[in-house]
Amino acid sequence: MKVLVVGARGMLGMELVEAFGPHHDVAGLDLPDLDITDEASCLELVRAAAPDLVVNAAAFTLVDECENRPEDAFRVNGYGAGHLARAAAAAGALLVHYSTDYVFSGRAARAYVEEDAPDPESVYGRSKLLGETLVRKHAPEHLVLRISWLFGPHGKNFIRTILGAARRGEALRVVDDQTGSPTYARDAAALTVTLVRSGCRGVYHATNGGSCSWYELARRSLEWAGITGVSLAPVPTSAFPRPAPRPANSTLDNARLRREGFTPLRPWQEAAREYIENYLNQ
Ligand SMILES: NC(=O)c1ccc[n+]([C@@H]2O[C@H](COP(=O)([O-])OP(=O)(O)OC[C@H]3O[C@@H](n4cnc5c(N)ncnc54)[C@H](OP(=O)(O)O)[C@@H]3O)[C@@H](O)[C@H]2O)c1
Repeated sequence: MKVLVVGARGMLGMELVEAFGPHHDVAGLDLPDLDITDEASCLELVRAAAPDLVVNAAAFTLVDECENRPEDAFRVNGYGAGHLARAAAAAGALLVHYSTDYVFSGRAARAYVEEDAPDPESVYGRSKLLGETLVRKHAPEHLVLRISWLFGPHGKNFIRTILGAARRGEALRVVDDQTGSPTYARDAAALTVTLVRSGCRGVYHATNGGSCSWYELARRSLEWAGITGVSLAPVPTSAFPRPAPRPANSTLDNARLRREGFTPLRPWQEAAREYIENYLNQ
């Protein structure tokens, strides 16, 4: 199978190239070679690559920056995804696309299942929801995986930031009233391969198991990194005013995976601990 990964130099994109690598003919594209906001380029480069599968990991992921630059957010996360959907469909390829827990407001008292109606409140969440809609509209053969609180060896993420600050001896204040499901990019990439091989279509929630607050994630990360004697305090979201509203509870229930008999991704604790031990322990 020929696979084209778009956004191949991002946190998830790098893992996808590796995960598909051993058993597939994989090519990767990213800025500046392919800008997904340019529809003609999408059509031309996808046609030239002639893939069986296009995997779109490209996105404008700076949630607060999206609030300041809504046009760019919608151009990349919304219309850009639509361009790739058209290009994949024209090439007769399946499109795998990634979305986010931020398509939900976070007001629910339980974890969100795939059938829940999205109600995003941030520009990022609304732009990602437009991406989902356009993927559904333009790519009859599509698989959308909603993931959340991503971490991995490549690029910036919350765990790396917290451990860096702790090692510099900074006192840490971390929000304790936002709950979600941390997801290891490596696990999400491996699951993608499984779902593609199994012929899955439509929307799936695809996070590591369980949920926690950012404070809990920071506390356990320090523990697994063996860092002691650092001041870590739980604080409410209101202590850190940010441009983009954050969902209070954006835990995703991987209900469809369970229902269809797939082994759910391991608990977030196991994944985060392995990540820290392999990549962040000095
Ligand atoms: N990170 C998270 O916590 C999180 C949570 C939930 C869902 N997701 C979703 O998971 C997917 C992967 O996220 P990630 O964290 O791996 O993202 P990332 O590390 O920010 O990588 C995104 C990649 O896309 C590229 N890109 C940006 N604009 C582009 C454009 N116009 N054309 C082509 N490429 C472009 C970026 O290039 P530059 O770096 O040069 O801009 C980067 O290489 C995204 O769909 C994201 O919305 C992420």
